[in-house]
Amino acid sequence: MNQPSWAPPDPAAPQLTAAAARRAPDWTALSGDVRTCTACPELAATRRSVVVGQAPAGARLLVLGEAPGAQEDDSGQPFVGRSGQLLDLLLAEVGGDRAHTAVLNTVKCRPPGNRVPSRPESAACRGWTERQLELLAPDLVVTLGLSATRWFLGPCTLGAVRGQVHEVAGVRVLPTYHPSAAIRSGPRGEPRRLLTEDLALAVRLTQ
Ligand code: URA
Ligand code: SF4
Repeated sequence: MNQPSWAPPDPAAPQLTAAAARRAPDWTALSGDVRTCTACPELAATRRSVVVGQAPAGARLLVLGEAPGAQEDDSGQPFVGRSGQLLDLLLAEVGGDRAHTAVLNTVKCRPPGNRVPSRPESAACRGWTERQLELLAPDLVVTLGLSATRWFLGPCTLGAVRGQVHEVAGVRVLPTYHPSAAIRSGPRGEPRRLLTEDLALAVRLTQ
């Protein structure tokens, strides 16, 4: 048997989610709508949870990742697997605190096998994330890795943009490495050093 082939998200999905997101008056209403979203047929059929994100009241710093992995899909919470544990550790090391940090992903449902979200999936979920950012209104967004960074900046390389604050449509954005890059390159690798340095700057700028 061949693998089942899934229809891509409907070309109208980005407009539909953006319109629904704009109608949501607050975080709770928005979260309810996101949890029932089926705009991406494959992700909606294979997910266990919709990982809406964490939004502690009054968070000034927001961290944006790419998409949930297996542990996030199981638990419904963002960044709880290996990458999340490293993020918590490094944040604490530089005087930050995960409990007071908002954590979102560009795409709320796990792509099977942790593949990179497709362009149509990313576009379908964009309206939800934009409304989340509008409602949370953080002082600074740290983007982890290339997907989250390109979500704001468009085509770029991480090396060229990381470690600096970029202003995008009124949002201050600080791109850095994804914790998975720091895990891959080991405890003495450059990605871990730069991720730590960038998180330290983020904590300083939001204290
Ligand atoms: N990687 C991400 O980008 N997001 C998560 O929530 C977990 C791992
Ligand atoms: Fe909907 Fe986003 Fe999940 Fe796609 S990834 S089904 S747009 S919530």
